[in-house]
Amino acid sequence: MKACSFVSHPSLLIILIVSCLGVEVRAQLTTDFYATSCPTVFTVVRQEVIKALMNEMRMGASLLRLHFHDCFVNGCDGSILLDGSNSEKLAFPNRNSVRGFDVVDTIKAAVENECNDTVSCADILAIAARDSVFLSGGPEWQVLVGRRDGLVANQTGANIGLPAPTDSINTIITKFNNVGLNTTDVVVLSGGHTIGRARCVTFSNRLFNFSSTDATDPTLDSTMASELQTLCQGGDGNTTTVLDRNSADLFDNHYYINLLNQKGLLSSDQGLFSSDEGVAATKALVQTYSSDSSQFMEDFVTSIIKMGNISPLTGSAGEIRKNCRVVN
Ligand code: HEM
Ligand SMILES: *[C@@H]1O[C@H](CO)[C@@H](O)[C@H](O)[C@H]1NC(C)=O
Ligand SMILES: *[C@@H]1O[C@H](CO)[C@@H](O)[C@H](O)[C@H]1NC(C)=O
Ligand SMILES: *[C@@H]1O[C@H](CO)[C@@H](O)[C@H](O)[C@H]1NC(C)=O
Ligand SMILES: *[C@@H]1O[C@H](CO)[C@@H](O)[C@H](O)[C@H]1NC(C)=O
Ligand SMILES: *[C@@H]1O[C@H](CO)[C@@H](O)[C@H](O)[C@H]1NC(C)=O
Repeated sequence: MKACSFVSHPSLLIILIVSCLGVEVRAQLTTDFYATSCPTVFTVVRQEVIKALMNEMRMGASLLRLHFHDCFVNGCDGSILLDGSNSEKLAFPNRNSVRGFDVVDTIKAAVENECNDTVSCADILAIAARDSVFLSGGPEWQVLVGRRDGLVANQTGANIGLPAPTDSINTIITKFNNVGLNTTDVVVLSGGHTIGRARCVTFSNRLFNFSSTDATDPTLDSTMASELQTLCQGGDGNTTTVLDRNSADLFDNHYYINLLNQKGLLSSDQGLFSSDEGVAATKALVQTYSSDSSQFMEDFVTSIIKMGNISPLTGSAGEIRKNCRVVN
């Protein structure tokens, strides 16, 4: 602000007033935040994600989900990466479920090696999620960066804020609304389930003793239901199957076509099309995306950028963690 008091030339005055006001405005994420401090960050992360996917294609899904579960709890601040007894990792939606922490450590090490103490773990998650979608056949976009890392994990926040597969669609919409996302974002971002796997424990409620009248969920295709019964019967609930049975590791719009055919895996997937709780809006969007792949890709980019903007720490808030698992 000091510079402002030395202004003499009138035309400079305008410019300086504008830039001085800019100081007061909360910092925004930008695509060029690391342009001078770490110009190679996008290349380094991309190379590491390529290696991880060559080792295991599913890792793309796991990295995408980490960014989502990070952003929904205290904003996109890398809080999900922190270890400890109060960690978000141990919250119900994450325990024995989220994965990819070792890969994040590897990416972080490669980034530190290139430009140390500069790039946040929260940004690494956002960049790795973008790369994962793109390398799985989905759209590419410019990632906004400049997030800083949070100083606390919030296990209670993770338990409360993250959606469960047995939540009603209205509950899921409310949870998205709570972080500034709307019904369109719910349907679009659920399309993330075009890649990845889920454990039996997350959908077996649909397979066994579903209700007093139906053994299995009537909104689940009966052939698929018996296949899943065979898969999950007698297991410990940890057996996994693909979320998109048409194209397991390909980021495409087949997730929505599955929903039209009662082949959504989770109750929260199929409910976007089949639930009868008055969610006409989600049903119409499912129909749109099932028949228009480019509309889905375009809207996915809009919604995931929106998700990546949930309450970021910027300026001097938080820190740049040296190790993503612990605060400095
Ligand atoms: C709409 C509410 C959502 C619910 C209820 C939900 C629930 C789930 C569940 C239960 C699983 C399987 C977890 C397990 O087996 O332990 C899963 C996996 C996954 N979710 Fe979601 N999810 C939702 C939204 C999203 C969003 C917004 C994204 C990202 C844009 C996403 C991306 C993924 C991915 C990629 C996987 C597979 C992960 C892997 O294979 O490691 N989900 N989700
Ligand atoms: C980071 O780099 C600076 C300057 O190159 C160096 O002095 C410092 O020791 C490095 N820190 C770590 C943790 O490697
Ligand atoms: C944890 O998350 C809850 C729910 O969003 C929020 O109310 C609470 O302030 C958060 N606590 C911390 C320590 O960040
Ligand atoms: C589910 O139903 C079967 C028979 O249809 C019964 O043997 C079993 O005990 C039931 N399981 C639960 C958890 O209610
Ligand atoms: C599932 O696997 C985890 C370890 O990944 C284990 O701790 C848990 O007990 C298993 N679940 C069941 C029901 O056995
Ligand atoms: C929801 O957000 C999207 C952007 O993600 C926007 O295009 C759309 O108009 C919003 N819809 C409603 C109903 O507000």
